[in-house]
Amino acid sequence: MITIRPMVSSDLPVARNLWSTAEGVELAEGDSEAELREYLARNPGASQVAMLGEHLIGAVLAGHDGRRGLLYHLAVSPGHRGKGIGRRLVHESLSILNDQGVRRVLILVARDNPSGRDFWARCGWESLEFAEAMGIDL
Ligand SMILES: CC(C)(COP(=O)(O)OP(=O)(O)OC[C@H]1O[C@@H](n2cnc3c(N)ncnc32)[C@H](O)[C@@H]1OP(=O)(O)O)[C@@H](O)C(=O)NCCC(=O)NCCS
Repeated sequence: MITIRPMVSSDLPVARNLWSTAEGVELAEGDSEAELREYLARNPGASQVAMLGEHLIGAVLAGHDGRRGLLYHLAVSPGHRGKGIGRRLVHESLSILNDQGVRRVLILVARDNPSGRDFWARCGWESLEFAEAMGIDL
């Protein structure tokens, strides 16, 4: 029986481990355990984990800036893919963000992650052909 529940800070070591081994997910600036603890506190309830008993088998980070929502680091353990867990994690995070007044949510998908892009497309997300992601380190 797989359950989806909000991520709590004690999930972070296992979630980070999942993310560090998931193709298409990159731990980067802001992804230390301490920084992610802060992130969860700033965005209560939005990030989700999938649990099989005591075992964390999927996770997604979610938050918003008061206007747009962002999802990051969606990953499901390889042995549990294709069972609707990724879709359930995303659905739950979007539902919480919607409850918090967010009406549009964005993700960044690495160009070398076509299977990730296919998953998002299958779940109804659209590519933003008119835009290009840009960034700067502070
Ligand atoms: C992407 C990922 C999270 C999907 O998780 P999952 O639990 O296997 O996905 P689901 O079973 O919920 O699939 C949901 C839908 O997407 C489809 N789908 C999933 N992976 C797909 C893929 N690689 N290509 C095409 N469709 C895919 C499923 O067929 C399903 O469609 P349906 O519900 O209409 O039948 C998982 O493959 C993963 O962890 N990948 C590595 C990390 C990654 O790429 N993350 C995304 C970063 S942007």
